[in-house]
Amino acid sequence: MPFRRKLLRSFVVAAMGLSMASFQGNAFAEQAAGADSSAKPADWSRNAVIYQVYPRSFADSDGDGIGDLPGVTSRLPYLGKLGVDAVWLSPFYKSPQADAGYDVTDYRVVDPMFGKLEDFDEMLKKAHAMGIKIIVDLVPNHTSDEHVWFQEALKSPPGSPERARYIFRDGKGKDGELPPNNWPSVFGKAAWDRVPGEKQWYLHLFDSKQPDLNWDNPEVRAEFEKVLRFWLDRGVDGFRVDVAHGLIKVQGLPDIDIKEGQENAGALVGPMWDQDGVHEIYRSWRKVLDSYPGKRIMVAEAWVNPKERLAHYIRPDEMNQAFNFDYLMTKWDAKAFKEVIDYSLALSASVNAPTTWVTSNHDTVRATSRYGLKELGAHALPGNGIGPKSPQPDEALGLRRARALAMLTMALPGSSYIYQGEELGLPEHTTLEAKYRQDPMFIRTKGGEIGRDGCRIPLPWKADAPSFGFGPSNKTWLPQPASYAKYAVDREESAPDSTLKLYRQILELRREYKLGDGKLSWVDSGKKDVLTFDNGDVRVVINLGEQSVPFPAGGTLVLSSEPLKDQDTLPGNTAVWLTRS
Ligand code: NOJ
Repeated sequence: MPFRRKLLRSFVVAAMGLSMASFQGNAFAEQAAGADSSAKPADWSRNAVIYQVYPRSFADSDGDGIGDLPGVTSRLPYLGKLGVDAVWLSPFYKSPQADAGYDVTDYRVVDPMFGKLEDFDEMLKKAHAMGIKIIVDLVPNHTSDEHVWFQEALKSPPGSPERARYIFRDGKGKDGELPPNNWPSVFGKAAWDRVPGEKQWYLHLFDSKQPDLNWDNPEVRAEFEKVLRFWLDRGVDGFRVDVAHGLIKVQGLPDIDIKEGQENAGALVGPMWDQDGVHEIYRSWRKVLDSYPGKRIMVAEAWVNPKERLAHYIRPDEMNQAFNFDYLMTKWDAKAFKEVIDYSLALSASVNAPTTWVTSNHDTVRATSRYGLKELGAHALPGNGIGPKSPQPDEALGLRRARALAMLTMALPGSSYIYQGEELGLPEHTTLEAKYRQDPMFIRTKGGEIGRDGCRIPLPWKADAPSFGFGPSNKTWLPQPASYAKYAVDREESAPDSTLKLYRQILELRREYKLGDGKLSWVDSGKKDVLTFDNGDVRVVINLGEQSVPFPAGGTLVLSSEPLKDQDTLPGNTAVWLTRS
């Protein structure tokens, strides 16, 4: 059936002053129906929109400048209205916060700065009552150096069972004064620290306050199964698995071949990354999760190379999803997006897993700012932030592209992620002064790597309130730029063409047209900068070029990423959804 253009909704409707009421829809998210119709419980995550809450920066209930779990609970209605299916919470466990909570002292305790276990239970109960699933972060590659196990290890002699929970080795050189091998930390400098007064060193692929666990030790495996059960018993719907590609290291810990300019373990290949032995661990976890009622899921944070190895993590007896970082790193180019979409769909189909679509998270420059840069350069890589001395993004261009990208991303079959603030079009804080920066990456590299603080700024909720309504005081653990006022939730609530309103419409239509469960078929656009595809009844057209092109023929326009001045042309950096009816 040809696409026609008759009924106008969204920004076109708004621009014409028509009522949007019919479009706001129900306040709370419905459960996404899984694609799986077999006897096993349906995997709700196959088509889910999953919203990442970074608890430190989401909402602060007590005014200490750090977000917390009661803050999350208080904002659940906002997430319900947005229309997300699930929330992934970054770590809120007891931690000295050397890496913003990815350094865990006790996996079963809520850090007092985030609240209490009862606050977690309350949040979970309320989320479930609204039909929102909750997945929590599991950090199995390393603990905090303040974890009781590591403290016991330091007090115990070399060769003791306490030390065997971590990776201790004698140093090289006459007195063990040199590290056991040449591995660098992902955060800069050596991946080893020496135990004071000893020949022994311990491995930390990240900060020195994050000692790596020894996953060849059955005690470590048994402990993590118990941690999984602890949270499953409380009712969580799944886990995001941190550094899923790092748990197993090659026996003997051989030196690596360090190429110039790659003096960073983040190079993705090497004896510490993506070893086949990790999969046995995930297969055992799958069994644990499947022994619980409902469908509990796992999503892998796995940076792998070659990229087809990502499929190993999402085989039917392992995890349900893996973050699609290739998509996140795509440059603003139609051909590049088409290639990554085709590749991602084929890869996940090869193991019958859903594809995920990710455009921002707490480790990477926000899409709004990334795509406002003249040259993307290395800024798509985690930690490669934009600092005050870097070339600055064009904020308006970045926002325009990010809105078009949201319409592309959410129209793709599979599961899509939203990083808190993305739905506001929030930019990175690119001019954050060095004195405020807390990311260990910035600190260990002495500013050589700008790090990730710029994407972790506390959210603006109210334009005219202290801390932009982040909390009841004017305190925020990182300063908010003045420009955040215009992205505040209350401002966007009252602006007809705000990014928040766009996202609500995108998510509602995505559900209505079952885009997450759909199938993509490309349509030749005849233009090098324009991508066109059909997913069920929806035709998606995105113009990634700067120049306008003739408006796509046929179909009913239901949504556009920008208000359209006329219906003859599709402007540059703009996306539209059309339907057949
Ligand atoms: C990946 C997490 O996303 C990141 O924030 C953290 O620093 C490292 N893993 C180490 O846990």
